[in-house]
Order: sequence, then C-alpha cells, then structure tokens
Amino acid sequence: MLPYGQQTIEADDIRAVLRTLESDWLTTGPAVERFEECFARAVGARHAVAVSSGTAALHSAMVAAGIKSNDEVIVPAISFVATANAVIYCGGKPVFTDVDPETLLIDPVDVIKKITDKTKAIVAMDYAGQPCDYDALRRIANQHELTLIADACHSLGGKDDDRNVGTFADLNCFSLHPVKPITAGEGGVITTDNAEFAQAMKVFRNHGISDDFRAREKTATHSYAMTTLGFNYRLTDIQSALAASQLKKLNRFTDRRNEIASRYDDLLADPSHVTPLSKRNSVRHACHLYVVRWNETKSGLTRDEAFQRLRSQEIGVNVHYKPIYRNPYYRELLGCVDHRCPMADQVYSEILSLPIFPSMTLFDIHRVVREISRIIDRDQKLGIRSLA
Ligand SMILES: Cc1ncc(COP(=O)(O)O)c(C=O)c1O
Repeated sequence: MLPYGQQTIEADDIRAVLRTLESDWLTTGPAVERFEECFARAVGARHAVAVSSGTAALHSAMVAAGIKSNDEVIVPAISFVATANAVIYCGGKPVFTDVDPETLLIDPVDVIKKITDKTKAIVAMDYAGQPCDYDALRRIANQHELTLIADACHSLGGKDDDRNVGTFADLNCFSLHPVKPITAGEGGVITTDNAEFAQAMKVFRNHGISDDFRAREKTATHSYAMTTLGFNYRLTDIQSALAASQLKKLNRFTDRRNEIASRYDDLLADPSHVTPLSKRNSVRHACHLYVVRWNETKSGLTRDEAFQRLRSQEIGVNVHYKPIYRNPYYRELLGCVDHRCPMADQVYSEILSLPIFPSMTLFDIHRVVREISRIIDRDQKLGIRSLA
C-alpha cells in the first residue's frame, strides 16, 4: 500500500537518537531546550515550548489563553477532532465555523457571525498545510479582544509573503507525529512572542510545578511548589534529538512536497472529475496533504466508491476530515443545537487525500494518477451509472 503520508528518517536522525541514548538524559534534559531554541529561531518566534503531542500543544495553548468553563472558542468545522477537544478539556464550548469550500480554510465572514459575548478565542487551522488568512483573522480578534490560536499542525515550513507559519497567531501549535512535516515519533510545540504564555505552558506541561528536576539539581534543593494543576506533557530528550535533526531538513522536505504537489497539479489538470483545492496567492504551502474534490457527476463514482477502489489498488487515499460535529460524542454533547456548517457538510462528501510525502517517487505519483483514470474509465466502459 502506498501510504497517504510517511516519515523520512535518515542516517543522521538515527545517529542523533543514538547519541542521546548514550547520554545521561533520556527525558527532559538539555536536548529539549536546544530543540526549543532551534525551533523558535527557525520560525522567527520569541519562544517555543516543546510538549508531548500536537494535542498537548493545543491543550496548553487553551490554558495559556485562559479558557475556562462556559467560555466559547471558535473552531473550524473541518479539522482533526483534537482542535475542538482541547476546548472541552478546559470546560469551554467549541463553536463550529464554516470553511471556504475552495481551500477548506476557516471562513472569516462566518467567524464574525459566530462571535458572542462569551467568545474568548478563535482557532484557525492551516488545512493541508496552507496558512489561513491571518490578516483578516487578526483584525477580527483585535476588534473583539479575542486570543488568536493557530492549529498549525499541518503547516510547519509554510509562509505567507515572507512571514513564517509560527508567527501569525498569539499561540501557534504544531504536531511532530510521523506524517507531519517533521517528526519526533510523537511530540508537539507551541510558539509565541508572549513570555507569560510561554512560562505558563512550561509549568502546565510539568504537572503545574514551576521548576523542573534539573533546576533543583543545580541548586541542590529538594523542595518544589506545585502552583496550578498541570499534566505530564513533557517531550523527552530522545524525541527532542530526533526533532532537532529533522528540523534541519524542513526546507528540503517542504520543497520536495511542493514539487510533488505541482506534479499532481499538472497531471490532474485534465481529468475534470478531480479538482485540487485552491491556493491562496502569496503563500508558500507546506503541502502536508494533497486534497482533491471528487466530482461524482463527471466521474460516475461517489467519493466513497473511489476511495474503496483506489484502496483495492493499494493506493492509500484518505479523507481529512469529517466535520467534527458529526462524531457521535459531539452529536450527543451538542444535542439539538444547530451547529451545522453547510459548506463543510457539502465538501466532506467530495474530499479525497492523495498520497504525498518527501520520499515519494515520480513513479509513485504517476501510479496514483493512472489508477484514478483507470477506475473511472472502467466504470465508464461498464456504463455502471446508466445501468443503475
Ligand atoms: C489539525 C490537527 N490538529 C491536531 C492534531 C493533533 O496532533 P497529535 O497527533 O500530535 O496529538 C493533528 C494530528 O493529527 C492535526 O492534524
């Protein structure tokens, strides 16, 4: 099966992990700080806080933003469930907002409609790796005194003009999961220019204790103070060593992803039964996903039929994502409240993610496109729709 996404681990990544295994530190040691410094420098933010996953990054960001019981937080309808779950962890209420069907990015006009006097924050998600329109979102956030949070789990390596992803929002959250732009196995990072936010998140990731074991070792003290309720969301030194090694390759990986995406664009320009999502002018896309909209009428196949047939040909297509509120947990939580987003509902039945990852070959790309043409030709020859 050609997967939809895959890590690229090279010999120097392995050496970096081995060196850490031979060192004195496995969990939080000097490699964490080193990685945080490199990450902050790479994106151009003042602070980077490393945590154990992208989900932990979103949860920590919500805590730094002060989200509490009954606060409302605007989230995109189409995202991974963790984007909304992080609001629930803090007792808040996610308010689902529609997306632009051409890009699947949060629609600023719908954001404005969803703001109430309980709204405390907006979470934008850089779907597939494309940065949202943060200028528009920033204006809205400033006007209504809201914290702007970026779920940038797809978009590390992306830019808008000459500004890097990681600098647009008050808190910018990243994932280091294996399919993401760079990996630590599992891991997450939050970048911010706000020193208070950074400090609060460092305490939160360490059980709510304000100094870590190493700091106490240096001053030969045993006593610590837990000042707030936190979690164990620490990234290990082993993971940080891998992540720091991967970070050096981010530009190369992003360039390669862009090459693959433009090859798909060229090859898919003709068959009108699939339409790649649109790109905003001025952005450098991180190309975490390559998503097309499947045209049922023109192809004679539903998206789900296409999904099944491509999977049976060992093409690991995927669907990112079902609108979050369609999950049973959210259906029950929201009850009969009308939370539907018409564009998200419509586009969900059409989207299909094609394989994309840095080590994908030209042969792989052609194979995906060939299989897409083949499943459609086969149906058109059999006249399945006209017989039905
Ligand atoms: C948009 C988005 N947000 C959050 C997450 C959560 O990241 P993690 O899996 O590292 O917890 C993911 C990961 O799949 C994601 O794609």
